[in-house]
Amino acid sequence: MLSAVPGPVAAAGDPAAGRSAFLAHCGVCHTVLPGRNRIGPTLFGVFGHKSASVPGYAYSHAYRTADLTWDEATLTKYLESPQSVVPGTKMTFGGLKDPARRADLIAYLATLK
Ligand code: HEC
Repeated sequence: MLSAVPGPVAAAGDPAAGRSAFLAHCGVCHTVLPGRNRIGPTLFGVFGHKSASVPGYAYSHAYRTADLTWDEATLTKYLESPQSVVPGTKMTFGGLKDPARRADLIAYLATLK
C-alpha cells in the first residue's frame, strides 16, 4: 500500500498530490475517463503514448504535426510551458512553474491506465 505519510517530495512525484493538482489546474478542460473529451482530449492513458492519438478529438494543426511521446521528460517540459513545446497549441494554459507540483501531476497521469 502507498503510504500517505507526508514527507519530502520524491523525485518520482506523489500521485495523490498530483490528483489535487489535476483537479485544480486541468480538470476544467480535461477528464481522466476513457473516451470523454471536453475542451481538451481525455488524459486517460496519455502517459507513455504518442501525442494527438485520442480518437474523436479535433486536435489543432500544431498538434497534428507535432510528433511527441508523452514520457516523463516531455511532459515535464510541456507542463512548464505548453506553448514552447507545441507552438500554436490551442491548450491555453500558461504552465505550472513549480517542479514538485509538475512531478506529482505526472505521477498521477502515469496511474491512469
Ligand atoms: C483551458 C483548457 C485547458 C487546460 C486548463 C489544460 N489543458 Fe491540456 N489541453 C487542452 C487542449 C485544448 C488540448 C489540445 C491542444 C491542441 O489540439 O492544440 C490539450 C492537450 C493536452 C495534452 C496532449 C494530449 C494528447 O492527446 O496528445 C496533454 C498531455 C495535456 N493537455 C495535459 C494537461 C494538463 C496535465 C493540464 C493541467 C496542468 C492541462 N492540460 C490543462 C486544454 C487545456
